[in-house]
Amino acid sequence: MPAVSEGARLLDGKSASRALLSQVSRAVAELTASGAPPPKLAVVLAGDDPASQVYTARKTKIAIETGLLSERLTFPADVSESVLLGEIERLNANPTVHGVLIQLPLPAHLSTARILAAVDPAKDVDGFHPLNLGRLLAGDLPPALPCTPSGMMTLLNSYDIPLAGRHAVIVGRSTIVGKPMALLLLHANATVTLCHSKTRDLPAVCRQADILVAAVGSAGLITADYVQPGAVVLDVGINRSADGRLTGDADFESACRNAGWITPVPGGVGPMTIAALMANTLALYRASRSS
Ligand code: GUN
Repeated sequence: MPAVSEGARLLDGKSASRALLSQVSRAVAELTASGAPPPKLAVVLAGDDPASQVYTARKTKIAIETGLLSERLTFPADVSESVLLGEIERLNANPTVHGVLIQLPLPAHLSTARILAAVDPAKDVDGFHPLNLGRLLAGDLPPALPCTPSGMMTLLNSYDIPLAGRHAVIVGRSTIVGKPMALLLLHANATVTLCHSKTRDLPAVCRQADILVAAVGSAGLITADYVQPGAVVLDVGINRSADGRLTGDADFESACRNAGWITPVPGGVGPMTIAALMANTLALYRASRSS
């Protein structure tokens, strides 16, 4: 973990994720002790993207360590859409499965929209089904919210970072992170600006942020020049540098000169995403048993 310079304090995702995972694990232990079947997460991976292989293996491993059941279903890069849709149908119909995750990105020949829409909304552990995205937009939050934004909100809450009335600036408008994060921050009464590749004078917009979320996949983009003194910086980037190290979308040392709080990479947002996924699986399990 990099050293924090100047006055920036670390938002420690490792520690906050351990706290969330131990809550989930205790709840699962209580369920199983009472004779109930454990929640189960199914992870679907199509193709051989190396990062997706690592992420999905980590998701199933942590699920099992948390006391959940988990299964990883892998398909070759040339899998047909009908085969994948058939598998999703089987998972939808399987009462022992409570959460279904389709790892993104999917191979280019598959329609991401059609595949995500095929997942039973009640088992949509990522909150990517159009029905659940619509509920998020309407402010009627579904039990499972997109994991990275949800993990970031948990991290902000665990450090008692106030959000109401604060200006949050998000860099990156993906459906996985930027757009749902904008909606969650809006739901928490922040004033939200969503930036993207066409935004004019990005550093000036970012300098207005009390909370700055960097989710563009551009290593080291966010330097001190983008950060208002005292701002909270959440770094979603996971970029592999030439020497094999993981770096974020922030230039950590430079951003620390102005940030009040900052997430490291690794050990910041990443662990929160996985812990949020486990909490989502438990939430869908509970929702399935109360309906
Ligand atoms: N690919 C990158 N991030 C995510 C995520 O949060 N969920 C899924 N399913 N795929 C991803």
